[in-house]
Amino acid sequence: MKYGLCGCRDWTTMSGAFSSLKYKNVKHCSTHPKFLHSNSTSHRWAFGAIAELIDNAIDPDVNASQFCIDLKEFNNEPCLVLMDNGCGLNPERLHKMLSFGHSKKQMTPGDRSIGKHGNGFKSGTMRLGKDVLVLTKCAVSMTTGFLSQTFLAAVGAEDILIPLVTWDLHRMSPKHADIEESLQAICTYSIFPDEASILAQLDAIPGTGTVSLTKAV
Ligand SMILES: Nc1ncnc2c1ncn2[C@@H]1O[C@H](COP(=O)(O)OP(=O)(O)OP(=O)(O)O)[C@@H](O)[C@H]1O
Ligand SMILES: [Mg+2]
Repeated sequence: MKYGLCGCRDWTTMSGAFSSLKYKNVKHCSTHPKFLHSNSTSHRWAFGAIAELIDNAIDPDVNASQFCIDLKEFNNEPCLVLMDNGCGLNPERLHKMLSFGHSKKQMTPGDRSIGKHGNGFKSGTMRLGKDVLVLTKCAVSMTTGFLSQTFLAAVGAEDILIPLVTWDLHRMSPKHADIEESLQAICTYSIFPDEASILAQLDAIPGTGTVSLTKAV
């Protein structure tokens, strides 16, 4: 399985399953990058956007006991840092989190999750800033994913690309072209200019958990 620069509609290749072989020639829905901003306008104020991330952290599938909000400087850029100590995500789950509508919450009777629609992370983070870099560590891997209006506008994207890079806990990353492209995109358009500075942030996550970083505006 490959992880790297993934288009939102590329999900079928990630999951290895295609739900309707019968209609394999029918066009896919595509999502223009402008939708990231449109979708965020459902939050009238920033606290509603932050609440989306708190809801995610305390939902039973993540089960965080702590959620911290901080303002930090990285390379002279003030950044809003939102961090939980939940279970973290593997690359496949992070790809779903940065895509739309992939929620497994409230599908079973008695599920007490707050989330439901598979949209809150995207609407919330895109209300707080134009770009979000997610750094996440789970029991077996460390992964970063970048949802960035700045990157998508700069490359003239007509669809939403999600640069995604994963390492095992020994800091080894699969040597695939998509990983290389993703790393290049993240190092060019995020606040971290190289792999070492991204790994330093992942190393700083104690145990498992997820950090979302967005430039303060
Ligand atoms: N902090 C986190 N740690 C681990 N997984 C997370 C975290 N935040 C979100 N996720 C995963 O990403 C998915 C998408 O999150 P998102 O907030 O977009 O949708 P949702 O919570 O499922 O539904 P809603 O739109 O109602 O909030 C979640 O279903 C969850 O599996
Ligand atoms: Mg949510």
